[in-house]
Amino acid sequence: MTTTDMDFGPALNSVLDTVDRWREQGNYPLFPVISEPLGTRARLSDDRIVSVFGSCDYLGLSRHPAVTGAAIDAVRRFGTHCYGTQPVGGFTELHRDLESALATFFDKPAAALFPTGMQANIGVLTTLAGPGDVVLSDQLNHGSISMGGRLSGARLVSFRHNDLADLEAGLVAYAGARRRIIVVDGLFSADGDFAPLAGIADLADRHDALLIVDEAHSGGVVGPHGRGAAELLGVLDRVDVITGTMSKAFASTGGFACGSERVMRMLRHSAGAYLLSLGLVPATVAAALAAVRVATEEGGLLRTRTADNASALRDRLRQAGVNIGASAAHVVLVHIGRIDDTARIATRLLEGGHLVNPLFPPAVPIGGARLRIGVTSAHGKDEIDEAAEAIARALDDA
Ligand SMILES: Cc1ncc(COP(=O)(O)O)c(C=O)c1O
Repeated sequence: MTTTDMDFGPALNSVLDTVDRWREQGNYPLFPVISEPLGTRARLSDDRIVSVFGSCDYLGLSRHPAVTGAAIDAVRRFGTHCYGTQPVGGFTELHRDLESALATFFDKPAAALFPTGMQANIGVLTTLAGPGDVVLSDQLNHGSISMGGRLSGARLVSFRHNDLADLEAGLVAYAGARRRIIVVDGLFSADGDFAPLAGIADLADRHDALLIVDEAHSGGVVGPHGRGAAELLGVLDRVDVITGTMSKAFASTGGFACGSERVMRMLRHSAGAYLLSLGLVPATVAAALAAVRVATEEGGLLRTRTADNASALRDRLRQAGVNIGASAAHVVLVHIGRIDDTARIATRLLEGGHLVNPLFPPAVPIGGARLRIGVTSAHGKDEIDEAAEAIARALDDA
């Protein structure tokens, strides 16, 4: 048997058929090869310079001297590797300090580091939920949340996006479950809107449910101290566990959970998603640690810049008649609909010098393909005007 012509079944085969069709039509926007990041611009391997509106480096910290300097120092001190998984040699002083910095930043008793944000969601859900429990998950949550819910063995019930009545119906319908756990993105990466966390926290209290908020896109960026959507909406102390990633505002890679000492100890000693991967390499931890410190010390100014830039882009796009749906922050979604149209528009934008993220099902509902634009504090007003104009033009030409 060979894998060359392997039949993966209709669903997966259609993925590669779609990719082949886009390639044949010259409409394949994925895997642009970056040869040199240049801040808000990047050089591609064919030497073209594109303006980057697909980055989650929302505070522009990936080039901050304190962040790059910390990563370089960590390579000099620790090399490029760590001895093992976190309990057996993969936990350096930097890991310890980052855990402590994240717990302080998010105002929770403790934190645990995961190799990725995806693994943080999976680790938290498989630890807090199990057979006999119900995980109530917003239908637009990040895929790693539904994956964690399914892997946990609990019943995974998805409720309509940001619909408190539908969430309450689920809480009532499963009142007999051993434990009910509500989990939402603080800021939805696929819709750009915030979860109605005050109402959700009230429902969690009323129905004695646990509340998990994934602050991947909001951590560091929103709220008076950058603590995320829960801080912005005044419910941080009512969230049981925060999950997040260092791959966005904290300018590195790796995931984390913040919550009670007991839950964090349980994650560190039992979660497969924590225990089955090597610890984060020290340089990525050092970069994230420096980024958390900068986000604490200089964050106010950077957050204001990001918010102003995002608001300018949303205004320009709306004025140009572009459908940005419920986008309310620095993650701006341009709704298109069909996957082929979305691939073609993203390709034309890339050819014209603008790198944005196309989102296709299952990351978004079928028929709901869209472009995601990440606005950062480092973007200039001219870049924002140019991007808005290019997007509006690409949609008109489509
Ligand atoms: C809401 C959300 N949660 C979790 C993740 C996963 O984070 P990581 O890139 O660290 O795996 C992402 C995406 O990157 C995300 O958008």
